Amino acid sequence: MSSSPSKSAANAPDACTACDAAPDAIGADRRAFLRHAAAAAGAALVALGTSPLEAFALPLAFTSPVRRDGETRTYPVPAADGAEIDRDNEVIVVRWQGAVYAFNLACPHQNTALRWLAADRRFQCPKHKSKYQPDGTFIEGRATRGMDRFAVRRDPGGVLVDLSTLHKQDADPQGWAAAAVRL
Ligand code: FES
Repeated sequence: MSSSPSKSAANAPDACTACDAAPDAIGADRRAFLRHAAAAAGAALVALGTSPLEAFALPLAFTSPVRRDGETRTYPVPAADGAEIDRDNEVIVVRWQGAVYAFNLACPHQNTALRWLAADRRFQCPKHKSKYQPDGTFIEGRATRGMDRFAVRRDPGGVLVDLSTLHKQDADPQGWAAAAVRL
């Protein structure tokens, strides 16, 4: 004869040992459990070849246009936040926080090719170390403006980038601010 769930639980040895523990002891046990869980998760990521820091990084990938028409290039909308570089056209496509941007690969200070630091989730110039957020906003360094943004608009194939129209934040702040495709 089977027993009811409530009777079975009541008869189970140590079914509610934690109920008898002092509140401080419960809190200590819980904190210890969370520490162990966090350590186990970190160990699992390392085992997969991914450091805990990298797990929160914004990835870098290479891309190429799916369509060319004169001075325009159309890129697929990136599937997730991160940076994609089209080296042939010297364009960086970034998806970040619900928007897509297209940047000139060259640093606005002295035209050095910018680098994406995935772990730091930002751009940095290798020459004079100017730093920029993923949306091109200037953080610090010798540059005097944000990363130069190409004009962009939504296109059936993804995001259309107009290579003939480059918005520089200091000379054209409104155009620069508008140069984004909101998703
Ligand atoms: S060339 Fe990039 S900061 Fe000088």
